Amino acid sequence: MEEAVLEVKDLRARYGNIEVLHGVSFFIKRGEIAALIGSNGASKTSLLYSLARLVPPIAPVVSGGDIIYNNESILKTEPHMLIQKKMMVLVPEGRHIFGNLSVEENLRIATYSYRKDVNYAAIIAEKKELVFSLFPRLFERRKQRSELLSGGEQQMLAVGRALMTGCETILLDEPSMGLAPKLMFEMFKALQKLNSMQHITIIVVEQNAKVALDFSGRAYVLKTGEIIAAGSSAELSSNSDIRKAYLGG
Ligand SMILES: Nc1ncnc2c1ncn2[C@@H]1O[C@H](COP(=O)(O)OP(=O)(O)OP(=O)(O)O)[C@@H](O)[C@H]1O
Ligand SMILES: [Mg+2]
Repeated sequence: MEEAVLEVKDLRARYGNIEVLHGVSFFIKRGEIAALIGSNGASKTSLLYSLARLVPPIAPVVSGGDIIYNNESILKTEPHMLIQKKMMVLVPEGRHIFGNLSVEENLRIATYSYRKDVNYAAIIAEKKELVFSLFPRLFERRKQRSELLSGGEQQMLAVGRALMTGCETILLDEPSMGLAPKLMFEMFKALQKLNSMQHITIIVVEQNAKVALDFSGRAYVLKTGEIIAAGSSAELSSNSDIRKAYLGG
């Protein structure tokens, strides 16, 4: 069996007194694209925040269970250390890019974890080349202030910035949010390319279940803080209950 890069065991999390993850267990294998799907309020974002080890008030407090990354618990690992160790990086919903900085500057600030590396300049150049080859539009706009980019380009930049960190796993929260269908398709194509060419593990939260299942190998369905279905994406796509509830029949 391929190795699990991430194993979540009976994870519970809460905002104050309100529990939003009620004992969630799942695994992700190294090098796969996995989708987490579910309706509004299913706790998809809360789960990603917990995995990325973000803290309140934005993220819930983990109150039980464990998150194992490369066979080690990361419950006590801070988010910046996850990045420093090139483990996991989150592309949050809403992008959160620095609008007053240029595209290139946004990319560069994501490389702080390399700053002490003797090959810093070469590493940045290599990562930038990867980002620009994946998203040629960012190359054309590299000198532009990021707030002037279109929504789709800003999403590319957010993904590009995550790539600059060199992390082996990328968590994405609704990368298709607000994108026209064609751009959404392009975004998922780019993620697929990244996965196959760079062997980056991708965990993507998506409300558009069809796209998510089409582009992933494994999927988990989250409903009000619990996983109610799991399996290969092909299996889930042909499951009649899943079809009715999430794929429009
Ligand atoms: N910072 C917060 N403080 C308190 N409650 C929160 C906070 N963020 C989310 N919640 C609550 O946690 C539950 C899960 O929300 P979450 O945003 O994780 O769901 P989601 O599946 O990502 O939904 P969506 O599809 O709308 O993005 C909801 O009931 C929400 O109101
Ligand atoms: Mg969400």
